Amino acid sequence: MAAMGRSLTLVLLCALCMLGSSEAADLISGDTVLVYEWTSIDYDWDSDDTRQLALDDGSFAPINNSINGIKTYGGTVYLTVPRWRSGVPATLTSVVMKGGRPVLRPFPSWEWQEVGNCSAIQYVQSMEIDRLGRMWIIDNGRLNIFDPNLPQVCSPKLLVYDIKKKEMVRVHTFPSDVASNSTAFLNDIVIDTSADDSDEWFAYISDSSLAGGIVVYDYKQDRSHRVTHRSMTAAPDGRQMTINGRNYTFPPVPVNGVALSPIGKIMKLYYCPLASYNLYTLPTSLLKQPTVSDVGTSVEELGRKASQSDGIVISNEGTLYYGALQLNAVYKWDTSSQDVSSSSPLLISDVRMQWPNAFAFDSEGYLWFVSNKLQQFLFNELNITGPEPNFRVWKVYVGENSYMYKASGAVGLRVGWGLLVAVVSVLYALV
Ligand SMILES: *[C@@H]1O[C@H](CO)[C@@H](O)[C@H](O)[C@H]1NC(C)=O
Ligand SMILES: *[C@@H]1O[C@H](CO)[C@@H](O)[C@H](O)[C@H]1NC(C)=O
Ligand SMILES: *[C@@H]1O[C@H](CO)[C@@H](O)[C@H](O)[C@H]1NC(C)=O
Ligand SMILES: *[C@@H]1O[C@H](CO)[C@@H](O)[C@H](O)[C@H]1NC(C)=O
Ligand SMILES: *[C@@H]1O[C@H](CO)[C@@H](O)[C@H](O)[C@H]1NC(C)=O
Repeated sequence: MAAMGRSLTLVLLCALCMLGSSEAADLISGDTVLVYEWTSIDYDWDSDDTRQLALDDGSFAPINNSINGIKTYGGTVYLTVPRWRSGVPATLTSVVMKGGRPVLRPFPSWEWQEVGNCSAIQYVQSMEIDRLGRMWIIDNGRLNIFDPNLPQVCSPKLLVYDIKKKEMVRVHTFPSDVASNSTAFLNDIVIDTSADDSDEWFAYISDSSLAGGIVVYDYKQDRSHRVTHRSMTAAPDGRQMTINGRNYTFPPVPVNGVALSPIGKIMKLYYCPLASYNLYTLPTSLLKQPTVSDVGTSVEELGRKASQSDGIVISNEGTLYYGALQLNAVYKWDTSSQDVSSSSPLLISDVRMQWPNAFAFDSEGYLWFVSNKLQQFLFNELNITGPEPNFRVWKVYVGENSYMYKASGAVGLRVGWGLLVAVVSVLYALV
């Protein structure tokens, strides 16, 4: 009996070894690739003359351009350039190689970037691309968002663009009680694709203006509403950050990062203010109700992260990733555990990873992210003529996919094997 138990254990361990080695020969979780880097952002201009003209008339001011949002689709990397300041020629782009260096090509076109044309796109902080290849774009409708003296030009809106068909399939202008036409700061977006019918999908958007709020968009009804709660506001200890030994006091930026749980029966939205260490969650069943007035009793506080973070994301396996802004690091956390203070580093303290800003997945197991030294940009410390790159696009192998896909079952298989080994080991110990 004991001998049988022992040999069975050996067989199982060998099977595990083989599983492990076939993965190890391939890619190891944590393998990191620096995909693109820039000292100064530049575009795919029609000609050198056009570029010079834009520099001369101020419509291109390199110092005011910084990459922010990132998504990938069909091998293309899409990046946003927020129009925080003037001189940003294109706010939504894809990366193309030109003359051996990466440049940003306006997406879908130059025409769509026209400043002051309220049918075009004015200011994009983030976007998301659904499984059908539709890009959901949040447009703040105005320029120079940090300057309260400038009048709003256009109303904030959500645009849905079909990448394959090359057409805009939906434009929703937010009523001003949902996203104010004078103060809105639509920051980040996730798409709830849990319904079988894609017409019944929802979007949840963080609005980082004033006290903050979550904007909910119902695609089928083409209707939006706003949910607020004090957990979406800045925390007293959240504004101070020490990055690379330098102390910064940030504005009290409320809810910023949003992430959605993977497709399942119970769906949850996770969110965190930029000026806070805390992470919170709300069930989407509640968020979806257009008349919900009090979400207070449903908000769950999940404890403190290792640092404040900007964008956050969850994989199809339920792992939440966030950039630890004070640590130049990326952290991960298993959302099935109770408290985010048990999160651990995926990438530790790399000075090239200052301000991990936004995340994305591709279909090959990579987590992508942008690091952009935003603290230096905001406090006018960025040097775009020195030797040091300022903006980087990274990918790190994690063997997972976007929250918009179902769990692969690979984790379940590994857990299954683990359990079997544990049971056999117990039997082995008993006999
Ligand atoms: C950068 O943006 C600021 C704020 O919009 C503006 O005052 C400044 O002139 C811009 N810089 C350049 C070089 O155009
Ligand atoms: C505004 O932008 C839209 C989208 O690019 C374009 O179709 C339209 O012609 C533009 N309108 C004007 C007045 O330029
Ligand atoms: C902004 O919203 C206010 C209040 O709802 C409304 O009166 C005003 O017309 C709107 N302005 C624009 C430019 O849409
Ligand atoms: C930064 O702030 C911390 C805590 O308030 C303080 O101890 C430290 O001396 C400050 N560092 C600098 C460089 O000002
Ligand atoms: C940027 O760095 C270069 C090289 O170190 C230096 O000559 C230049 O003065 C710096 N510019 C700014 C604005 O700090």
